[in-house]
Amino acid sequence: MDEAEYGDTMIQTLAVIWGEGFLSPGGAGEVAELLRGLDISGKRVLDVGCGAGGIELLLARDYGAAEVLGIDVEAPVLEHARRLIARHGLQNRVRFEQVSPGPLPFPDASFDVIFSKDAVIHIPDKESWCQDMFRLLRPGGLLVASDWMRVDESEPSAEMLAYMEAEGLSFRMGSLPRYGSAMADAGFVQIGLRDRNEWYRSAVRAELEQMRGPLRAPLEAAVGVEETARNTALWARLCAVVESGELRPGHIRGLKPAC
Ligand SMILES: C[S@@+](CC[C@H](N)C(=O)[O-])C[C@H]1O[C@@H](n2cnc3c(N)ncnc32)[C@H](O)[C@@H]1O
Repeated sequence: MDEAEYGDTMIQTLAVIWGEGFLSPGGAGEVAELLRGLDISGKRVLDVGCGAGGIELLLARDYGAAEVLGIDVEAPVLEHARRLIARHGLQNRVRFEQVSPGPLPFPDASFDVIFSKDAVIHIPDKESWCQDMFRLLRPGGLLVASDWMRVDESEPSAEMLAYMEAEGLSFRMGSLPRYGSAMADAGFVQIGLRDRNEWYRSAVRAELEQMRGPLRAPLEAAVGVEETARNTALWARLCAVVESGELRPGHIRGLKPAC
């Protein structure tokens, strides 16, 4: 089971640090930042790389999406997501589907809104991804996403390479300008790009302090002493590359023209 990149141990670890159902930082607050000023009530929403379901809960329960389809390439996260949504009785509006990497198996213009949080980091070809998202949106539809990005397209520093090796995940970070160009080339208009390094700089330091302090016991209870120590050391590396400015979470938005 734990052959998956996001297996049960990681899901449990991240639930303690970032909240149940979240595999990325910021919880409801960061989702609110992403959706600020947008109304997704009554919309058909696709969530790419949905993970363990915390985001689907927010999109359906708090933002009133009519239908949410969460897709992911891994089975363990989808099992968690389905259980979470069932506990909240939202199965009639939230579905999940396991997909293979690459173009998604849905017809053109299937969705009003495509959402994604910190998942495209696993997709090397950002340009093809933007083209596929453009295809899947109905005219007038919106792409809203956040991702972990690098400051630019240069070679990663030794610190970044060491962090990524310690993380052990298939990270392929692009830069915010690269996303902007990829979206424009795909046909998106009204493109919005927002750097979130400053926010995460303070949040990640707080996460590390919590892991060394009050979260240590809950983490050890959830995943054991050794795994907790490994993750705390990993977070120190993560802090370093966020504080150096090399790792920069970013938000992107784009509109598919109505005609
Ligand atoms: C950092 S987690 C974020 C999960 C969720 N969006 C969240 O914020 O909690 C990244 C997710 O992307 C998924 N993923 C990796 N490659 C993918 C791909 N090609 N298409 C869709 N999802 C993918 C992973 O399995 C994982 O669940």
